[in-house]
Amino acid sequence: MIGKIAVIGGGNIGGVCVSEIASRRLARKAALVDIKEPDFAKGKCLDIAEGNAVIGSDVIMEGSKSYEVIEGADFVINTAGVPRAVRPDGTFPSREELLATNLKITDAVAAGIKQYAPDAFVISVANPLDAIVYRLYLQLKEQIPKTKIMGMAGVLDSARYKYFVAEAAGVSVENVEAVVLGGHGDTMVPIRSACRIYGLPVTKFVSESDLAAIETRTRKAGGEVVGLLGSGSAFVSPAWSALDMLESIAYDKKKITPVCALLDGEYGVDNLFVGVPVVLGKAGIEKIIEIDLTDDEKAALQNSVDAVSKTCAEVDKTAI
Ligand code: APR
Repeated sequence: MIGKIAVIGGGNIGGVCVSEIASRRLARKAALVDIKEPDFAKGKCLDIAEGNAVIGSDVIMEGSKSYEVIEGADFVINTAGVPRAVRPDGTFPSREELLATNLKITDAVAAGIKQYAPDAFVISVANPLDAIVYRLYLQLKEQIPKTKIMGMAGVLDSARYKYFVAEAAGVSVENVEAVVLGGHGDTMVPIRSACRIYGLPVTKFVSESDLAAIETRTRKAGGEVVGLLGSGSAFVSPAWSALDMLESIAYDKKKITPVCALLDGEYGVDNLFVGVPVVLGKAGIEKIIEIDLTDDEKAALQNSVDAVSKTCAEVDKTAI
C-alpha cells in the first residue's frame, strides 16, 4: 500500500482527487495543501474523514495551509493554479493565457516539494500543462529524476477522443483504443492511424468526415466543458486521469499511457515536455514509445511541439 499521497490545491480537481483516494483506499494517508482561507484544505479533509466512517475507509486525511503536511509523500499530484473560466462576454482564455499567474503558484509548489517531498513522483495537472511541468522540472531536477516528473493531459485527451468515437460507432468505450499526442492545447493531435475498435481500424465503423469532426471536437473538448459549466473547467475527468497514472506506477502495471514527458530526441524533440505514449511502472516513466505516424500526423505533431516550445520560451524568460 502507498504510504502517503499529497495533493496540492484542493479546489475542483484536487477535491475529487482526495475524495477518490479515500474511497479507493489508495494510501495510508492523504495530505492536502491549499492556501485558501480560513483553512479550506483542513475543512475539505475533515469532511472526507467524517465520510470515511460511512464507507469504511481508514485513509488518514490531513489538510493544511502549510506545505509541511506533505512531508515524506510518495506521490504529489499538483492541481494548484487558476482554471479557465468564461468571461462576461462569453469568451474564455486559452490555457496559455493562464501562464503568468500559474507560474508564480508553480514556484511555490516546487519549493514545497523540494523541502518536504523530494523523493516523490510528481504528477502535474495545472495549466498550461506542458509549460508548468517544464517549470516544475527546472525547479526540481536536482532532486527528482525526469522519469518521476510528468504531466497529466494525454490520458484525458485520449479519453475524450475514445468517448466521442465510441458514441459515434455505437460501441462500448472499452472497445476503443485511441491516443492523442502533443501539447495539451488546441494543437493537440488525435492519432487516427492508431485508433482501433476491437482491434480493427476505426474507419470500418466511423466515416472519415465524422472522424474529422470528432478530432476537432477532441482538440476543443476542454473549452466545450468550460463553456457549459459557466465557471471553472473540467474537474472529474482530469482527477480520474491523474489517478489512473498514479495507479499504474503504484501497482507497477507497466500500462502504456500517454503522458507529458521530457523528451530527449524521441519524436525529434529535445528538452521539451510533450505528450507521448510511455510505459508507466514502478520506476515512473520506464520507456517512451515511438509510434509510426502518417506524414500529416507528423506535421501536426511538429506544429503542436512548436506551440509548446513557444510557451516554454516564455517560461525561460521568467527568472527562477
Ligand atoms: N498552494 C496551494 N494551493 C494553491 C496555491 C498554492 N500556492 N495557489 C492556489 N492554490 C489553490 C487555490 O486556492 C484553489 O483552491 O489551488 C486551487 C485550484 O482549484 P480550482 O480553482 O478549483 O481549479 P481546478 O479546477 O481544480 O484546476 C486547477 O488544473 O486543469 C487545471 O486549468 C486548471 O490550472 C487549473 C488547475
